[in-house]
Amino acid sequence: MGKLQLSLSESFSFRPSPVRIFSLGNYKSWVSQAFSGGLIVVATFVFFVIAMNFGYSYVVVDDDFQPAVQTYDMLNGTASGEECNYFQGSWVFDESYPLYNASDCPFAERGFNCLANGRKDKDYQKWRWKPENCDIRKFDVHEVLEMLRGKRVVFVGDSLGRTQWESMICLLMTEVEDKTSVSQVIGNRITKQIRHIGVQFKSFNLTVEFYRSVFLVQPGAVPKRSPKRVKSTLKLDVLDDISKKWIQSDILIFNSGHWWTPGKLFDMRCYFQIAGKLKLGMSTASAYRTALTTWASWVQNMIDTNKTRVFFRTFEPSHWSGRNHLTCKVTRLPLNKTNGKEQNPFSDTIINVVKNMTVPVTVMHVTPMGASRSDAHVGTWSDNPLVPDCSHWCLPGVPDAWNEILFSHLLSQD
Ligand SMILES: *[C@@H]1O[C@H](CO)[C@@H](O)[C@H](O)[C@H]1NC(C)=O
Ligand SMILES: *[C@@H]1O[C@H](CO)[C@@H](O)[C@H](O)[C@H]1NC(C)=O
Ligand SMILES: *[C@@H]1O[C@H](CO)[C@@H](O)[C@H](O)[C@H]1NC(C)=O
Ligand SMILES: *[C@@H]1O[C@H](CO)[C@@H](O)[C@H](O)[C@H]1NC(C)=O
Ligand SMILES: *[C@@H]1O[C@H](CO)[C@@H](O)[C@H](O)[C@H]1NC(C)=O
Ligand SMILES: *[C@@H]1O[C@H](CO)[C@@H](O)[C@H](O)[C@H]1NC(C)=O
Repeated sequence: MGKLQLSLSESFSFRPSPVRIFSLGNYKSWVSQAFSGGLIVVATFVFFVIAMNFGYSYVVVDDDFQPAVQTYDMLNGTASGEECNYFQGSWVFDESYPLYNASDCPFAERGFNCLANGRKDKDYQKWRWKPENCDIRKFDVHEVLEMLRGKRVVFVGDSLGRTQWESMICLLMTEVEDKTSVSQVIGNRITKQIRHIGVQFKSFNLTVEFYRSVFLVQPGAVPKRSPKRVKSTLKLDVLDDISKKWIQSDILIFNSGHWWTPGKLFDMRCYFQIAGKLKLGMSTASAYRTALTTWASWVQNMIDTNKTRVFFRTFEPSHWSGRNHLTCKVTRLPLNKTNGKEQNPFSDTIINVVKNMTVPVTVMHVTPMGASRSDAHVGTWSDNPLVPDCSHWCLPGVPDAWNEILFSHLLSQD
């Protein structure tokens, strides 16, 4: 086993590392620009700063259908007949929110339950996402549960995928009278490192699962005769070996991005491999695109898109501030401006790769909607108040809106 796998099982925290600032050249040509030697000389590039950077405070570090000719779908009706782009809109204050109480939901992890962890202001829970040209269907638990009867929903990705998984279960549990009919059927206690966890809604024969695969591709061993600095690798041309478990699903939702930062990869001394060969100078941007292309081929070859609806959620903005992007100041209200955060190179890559696919995959472009929500992060109201967190979201909160859009979309398709 590679060292990466070892280190991935260690605890980690989400916090930007002090020195390494992920920077990009011309944002538009991000994909093609050589960001050569990016892993090594990363700290010297300062053009475009991605607010999300992970660091580590613990010992050993580390830590998203429609049959149509046109397969690219942004949920704005290009292929689905819906005349709406769900992701272009604004947040409106709505007293009827939130949709659940995290303290009554056994599957909301403590780390995301901001109220339980001492947050006093509550307005952050009361924002409803309103698409500009249409409405999201009002969330009706029974309607959604009936739609999902007999189905298997699978989330794959990082901890932000886990948050959406938790949010979905909490949303669906609100109207389940016998809470004991909702039980964990796969995995242990929810932890930051859990690889696979699944919850079943017995009365509906519905399972909602999460697979932790932060890079989507397979960690690899260090090839013989590699330079000493190489401590772990990622096989960009091989999908994560647990991917076989993702195949027989009805709804498959991917995300990946927050781990693809030079800072994080540098801390893991992680380099890339293609066809068994080390690619020492490869930029993270180019590696990310290669990994997504591997993912795209996998979907095209392995997934029966007549059965499985595939989604990919784009990058979720974080709100670190200050000179080194180390400061986490959670605001009481959403920002009136997005400071450019409505755009993100990871999201652009996802959209470009999906556009090229020959099977239907739906992009959930959540980047713009998260851009103003500096009020909705965990901050110091997590399970570890010493480590501020401007990356993850409080539950209830922003991830609920992602699920509301997903449900609304699925219902409009049926
Ligand atoms: C849907 O969104 C895509 C990508 O933003 C855009 O190219 C397309 O023109 C949009 N279609 C409609 C009908 O708005
Ligand atoms: C959520 O539920 C907990 C425990 O049932 C209760 O103490 C708390 O007051 C509730 N919070 C809200 C905002 O209703
Ligand atoms: C439950 O759903 C699965 C598909 O997810 C199906 O194979 C199975 O027959 C269903 N079981 C019942 C009791 O309806
Ligand atoms: C999916 O459905 C279409 C139309 O019904 C059919 O032509 C195609 O062969 C099916 N694909 C698979 C993989 O079953
Ligand atoms: C945003 O604008 C509204 C109305 O213009 C104002 O009431 C609110 O305080 C502003 N929010 C922030 C965070 O500045
Ligand atoms: C999309 O496909 C074209 C032609 O095969 C290729 O040149 C281009 O690089 C692909 N784009 C992405 C983002 O994969």
